[in-house]
Amino acid sequence: MALPDSDVADLGLAQAGVRRVEWAERAMPVLRKVHDRFAAERPLAGMRVAACMHVTAETANLLRALSGGGAEIALAASNPLSTQDDTAAALVAEYGISVYARAGMDPASYDRNLATVLERRPHLVLDDGCDLINLAHMERPELLGHAVGGCEQTTTGVIRLRRMSAEGVLKLPMVAVNDTATKRMFDNRYGTGQSTLDGIMRATNAMIAGRTVVVAGFGFCGRGLAERARGLGARVIVTEVDPVKALDAVMQGYTVLPMDQAAPAGDVLVTVTGNRDVIRAEHLASLKDGAVLANSGHFDVEIDLPALEAMAVDIRREVRPQADEYVLADGRRIVLLAEGRLVNLGAAEGHPAAVMDMSFSVQALTVAWLARASGDLAPGVLDVPAGIDTQVAGLELEALGVGIDRLTPDQEDYLSSWRE
Ligand SMILES: NC(=O)c1ccc[n+]([C@@H]2O[C@H](COP(=O)([O-])OP(=O)(O)OC[C@H]3O[C@@H](n4cnc5c(N)ncnc54)[C@H](O)[C@@H]3O)[C@@H](O)[C@H]2O)c1
Repeated sequence: MALPDSDVADLGLAQAGVRRVEWAERAMPVLRKVHDRFAAERPLAGMRVAACMHVTAETANLLRALSGGGAEIALAASNPLSTQDDTAAALVAEYGISVYARAGMDPASYDRNLATVLERRPHLVLDDGCDLINLAHMERPELLGHAVGGCEQTTTGVIRLRRMSAEGVLKLPMVAVNDTATKRMFDNRYGTGQSTLDGIMRATNAMIAGRTVVVAGFGFCGRGLAERARGLGARVIVTEVDPVKALDAVMQGYTVLPMDQAAPAGDVLVTVTGNRDVIRAEHLASLKDGAVLANSGHFDVEIDLPALEAMAVDIRREVRPQADEYVLADGRRIVLLAEGRLVNLGAAEGHPAAVMDMSFSVQALTVAWLARASGDLAPGVLDVPAGIDTQVAGLELEALGVGIDRLTPDQEDYLSSWRE
């Protein structure tokens, strides 16, 4: 078999990648059903897909389902640190998918890979953070000539798309997969919560019980992270800018403080806001000796890294894998994990497959819907079509062996009538 064009670290890792992908597949029963259906119905026959996503075993299973449905796929990484080189090799050598991604690649390679997948002139675009769509709109609009639509996977990407749409520059219908209940309630909350702590613990082997963990941002991700940290015995401090979210945190029993008061108290500080400069120079200056800084928001802008670099008199790279130590003038040491990029993907393996089963099943069914609607949709940010979310949640419950009640006809009448 001729291998597809690609740029990965080592094709010799393919068998290790297959084992990783198959292990993840075991926890993805709904996506497996979608895959079987796609293989029978071929809803994506003749469609070219350009994807910018984390190159992980879970993504591999999504792309296998789309490929089984007939799609021809090119994948670039959506983060330089999250690529699993063995998964990338398996995608190319075993699953016939073009991959342009290497763990730890430099920013120039990252950008070049985005351009390479766009140069396939895709019909469908799968983005995670809006980098592909952004590049196409800013520099290479001609490459979207065949595109009928796409999906966006994360909160930050959807925010960027909505800004483009409001300015009237977005040229494609883009579905906000992030905004479904199954994605936000389970993937952002339980997935990010668990995997962020997993990344912090792998990178530091730190004890969480009895320590003070500062969670910046009490959105879907932050709420999950705060719950998991508290579950491990941490004292959790939440910082927020939204009064409603802050009040929610107070009602859930967390200490809520402005960052200038939270920073000196924290043993571990994690940003997950989707915003920039959440931990700034004045906060960095007040950190405890040995404080651990991590980010789980989409971009590496939540901690002011240039300020940290400027304050340091010595920087000790990789005191442990994915942990750099910054020594301040008075001798205090600050430990930064995963270079301030997504810690759950840089220092751990991202979300567990079981939670990605739902997000990626929604995404696969949405891609098939976009292919069917081919060309009939107006540019803008669209919701996932009604029904897909409920269908996926129902299949997930079935896979877990959990039964629920059905509305009786009388109950349906009662709920739909205003006369009673
Ligand atoms: N690590 C992962 O695997 C993963 C998974 C999903 C989403 N994300 C990313 O995580 C980020 C958050 O996603 P979400 O779904 O929780 O978003 P969200 O909109 O539900 O929550 C973000 C919260 O941060 C708060 N916030 C904004 N600026 C702040 C500031 N300066 N200080 C304190 N709080 C502030 C907002 O008020 C909001 O409550 C996004 O960048 C998203 O793309 C990461």
